[in-house]
Amino acid sequence: MAPLTTRRKFLMNSAKAGIGLSVGTSLLSSCSLVKKTSYGADKLITGFQQQPLPYSYNSLSDAIDGATMEIHYTKHAAGYSANLQDAAKSEGVNMTQPLEETLRRVSKYSAKLRNNAGGHYNHELFWKLLSPNGGGEPGGKLAKAINNSFHSFDSFKTQFSEAAKNCFGSGWAWLVVDGDHQLRIGSTSGQDNPLMDVSEFKGVPIMGLDVWEHAYYLRYQNKRADYINNWWRVVDWKFIEDRYNAVV
Ligand SMILES: [Fe+2]
Repeated sequence: MAPLTTRRKFLMNSAKAGIGLSVGTSLLSSCSLVKKTSYGADKLITGFQQQPLPYSYNSLSDAIDGATMEIHYTKHAAGYSANLQDAAKSEGVNMTQPLEETLRRVSKYSAKLRNNAGGHYNHELFWKLLSPNGGGEPGGKLAKAINNSFHSFDSFKTQFSEAAKNCFGSGWAWLVVDGDHQLRIGSTSGQDNPLMDVSEFKGVPIMGLDVWEHAYYLRYQNKRADYINNWWRVVDWKFIEDRYNAVV
């Protein structure tokens, strides 16, 4: 993670240059975000190195078994990070800049960089939004926004779960803040994500659900819906609320 002064400098420069990480120029390039504390900024900036898992492999076993977590983190996600750094080095990407900068112009780079940049970013977010103490419902501004956009938390949960269940093959379901500061649900294929210029579904990811088979197959086999239903038990709403508050 870059030092605080570097992160602030990046956000300031992004604002001046109008190169926010989001769709359009209205979100991360806005002055309001620049004024956010480092806590808010931390939630929105991703480096190229894999960060330590903030809990033990077994601690999410209400939803995800320890063997799946260990293989997922140490093999799949670690591989994305290593391959991303390899591709970034070959293609002259400045790894002292936030990864989000590369994602928003990922069409300029190779498939190797696109796939591994997405894979690394998506998993870094995924680990952080889970917690052994997760579950329940969000509060604060996010709860109000969910009610405004989806009528109720239950309706939101149903729509998000459907997006995850219906994602064909390997991919991700997302809750994003779009260019109009509205919450939207969608999905992307492979390791693409809504920050990418190549993605049809765009926005700043607030929450993402990995529905690749590697995320659930050991315990759930073909029953993706059961994995999704249990996944809600370990969602860390405090983290997601903080992330939402840092974006809007
Ligand atoms: Fe994954």
